[in-house]
Amino acid sequence: MSSAETTQAGPVQVGARRCVCPGSYDPVTLGHTDVIRRAAALYDEVVVAVLHNPAKRGTFTPQERRDLIIDTCDDLGNVRVELFAGRLLVDVAREVGASAIVKGLRGGTDFAYELPMALMNRHLTGIETVFLPGDPSLEHISSSLVKEVAAHGGDVSGLVSDRVRDALLARLQER
Ligand code: PNS
Repeated sequence: MSSAETTQAGPVQVGARRCVCPGSYDPVTLGHTDVIRRAAALYDEVVVAVLHNPAKRGTFTPQERRDLIIDTCDDLGNVRVELFAGRLLVDVAREVGASAIVKGLRGGTDFAYELPMALMNRHLTGIETVFLPGDPSLEHISSSLVKEVAAHGGDVSGLVSDRVRDALLARLQER
């Protein structure tokens, strides 16, 4: 059973079960939010790790991605969002004290992509990956498809939050 302790950083759960939900989140979609919310119901604490490649310019800056994730999850008290550049996921997991990696699976294609990474991560440090089946109503959603649809004038309502949709449209107008 966890017990509460207070540190300079605020109350922490000693022995808390903490997981990491990693991704590029460029931008966060309703599929991502569903997985984060379900992870938050399973674990004491969820660290959403925005992993970005400093050599690649995304649609949103890492800070913008973080703000958009926070906006979609701000009602969840046990979720925090952190940014990591050019790091191995296993090192991130160790640094934040996560005992598991949680990822959503949208189907066979995701599984084929995710399985070698899960096995490699377990090989490196022993950390397990927990796969949550994607909600069928959200299976078709990915950040890249959302961006493609928006770039060609399609409506992305219902695929991302209203705030993400508006941020995406504003970003496209800047270009
Ligand atoms: O949202 P994405 O793009 O599917 O996320 C992929 C991500 C960032 C989770 C994955 O590329 C990753 O774990 N990158 C960190 C670097 C790393 O650990 N690579 C080895 C994986 S076995």
